[in-house]
Amino acid sequence: MTFFLLAAMIAGCGEVSLIPNIPSNGLAKTPPMGWNSWYSFGGTINEDTVRSIADAIVSSGMRDAGYSYINIDDTWEGTRDAQGNIHPNQRFPDMKGLADYIHSKGLKFGIYSSPGPETCAGFVGSYGHEEQDAITYAAWGVDYLKYDWCSAKDVYSGRASPAAYAKMATALQSTGRPIIYSLCNYGEDYVTAWGSKVGSNLWRTTSDIQDSWEKMISNIEAQASDANSAGPGHWNDPDMLQVGRGGMTQAEYRTHMSLWAMASAPLLAGNDIRVMSSETSSILLNSEVIAVDQDRLGTQATRIRNGDIERWLKPLADGSVAVAYVNLGSTPAQVEVSIQDLHLANAVTTARDLWAHTSLPLGGDGFSRLVPSHDVLMLKLGPS
Ligand code: GLA
Repeated sequence: MTFFLLAAMIAGCGEVSLIPNIPSNGLAKTPPMGWNSWYSFGGTINEDTVRSIADAIVSSGMRDAGYSYINIDDTWEGTRDAQGNIHPNQRFPDMKGLADYIHSKGLKFGIYSSPGPETCAGFVGSYGHEEQDAITYAAWGVDYLKYDWCSAKDVYSGRASPAAYAKMATALQSTGRPIIYSLCNYGEDYVTAWGSKVGSNLWRTTSDIQDSWEKMISNIEAQASDANSAGPGHWNDPDMLQVGRGGMTQAEYRTHMSLWAMASAPLLAGNDIRVMSSETSSILLNSEVIAVDQDRLGTQATRIRNGDIERWLKPLADGSVAVAYVNLGSTPAQVEVSIQDLHLANAVTTARDLWAHTSLPLGGDGFSRLVPSHDVLMLKLGPS
C-alpha cells in the first residue's frame, strides 16, 4: 500500500529525484522520550520555566525512567541579525546557558523550526538559512530538532517536501553534532513512505492531537496501517502524550500510554510535570509499559478489531509478545485472552499484567477479564 502510494506520488510528479536518500544519522535506535513545551505552555514558554521543568523531570524520577529530551516547541525565535544569524526572543536570553543547564542534569536539549519562512505561530523559520541555523543549533548544544512544515506550503509544493526536509537533514549531519531530526508535516504527502529516506528519525502521522479520547484514538488508528514504516532509528509519531492534562479519565490515559508503547511511538510528555498528581506519574512512570515502548526490536504493533474490543500485538526482542486489549465501547466488556488465537511463534506459560504488576500462570488456552469502558488490559506473554 505504502509503496504503491509512493510510486504514485513519484509518477505523479514525474521526478524520481525528488525522493532523496540521505544516510541515517544512527540516532533514536529506540523511540525518543522526553518532554515538549507546546501543549502546556504554547507561546508563554520561557527559560525559567524550561529550567524548572528540567529540575522536575529529575526529581519526579522521569529522567531515570528514560525521559531525557527537554524540547522547546514554537515561539522561542526572535530575529535574524545582519549576517542572517537567528537569535532567540527576550523569553530566552541565553540559549547556550540553558542548554548547558539541561546537559548538567544529564538531560538533552531540543528545539523547533520550520522549512518555511515562518513557523506555525508566525515566528521566524529556517527557509534560506538551513545550514546557518543548523550551525547555530549545534553551537548552542541542541540535541533534537522538530521541523514543522507550516508556511513551507507557501514556498514549496507538497511534492518538494522530501527535498526540503532532506536539506535540513544534511545541514544537521554536516555540523558533526548528533541531533535527532523530527519531521512534522501532519502525515501529509505520504510521509510514512519517505520519512526515513530524508534522514529523519520520526515523522508526525496526523494532525495535532487533543486532550480528548476521540482525537487520541483517531491519531493512533491513523497510523495503524503504517507499521512497516517504523523501526530502529525511524518512527511513526502520532504526536505527544496528553497524560495528566485533565481532558481524559485515568482509564483513558492508561489506554493512551499503552497504545503509544504498543505503537513504538515517541513518548514526549505534554503535561506540566512540575505539578503532576500521583495518578499521572504512575502512568508516565510505569516502567513495564515503557519497556514495551523501548523494546530494541522496534516493531510497531499490529491491530485487529472485534466489535468494541481492539487487540494490538507487538513481538518483543526476548521472544515474548506484548498484547493490549482496548475496550472502545461505553460499557464494560468481557475480554477473552486466547493464546491459540494469537498464533504465536513461541510457547507462552505466563501472562504478566503490565498495569496491575502481577503475573499469572497460563493454564489451558487463556482466561477472560472484564475491562471497563475505555480501559485497557495490557499483557506481556512469554516463558515464566
Ligand atoms: C503545529 C504542530 C504542533 C506545534 C505547533 C506550534 O501545529 O503540529 O505540534 O508544534 O505547530 O506552532
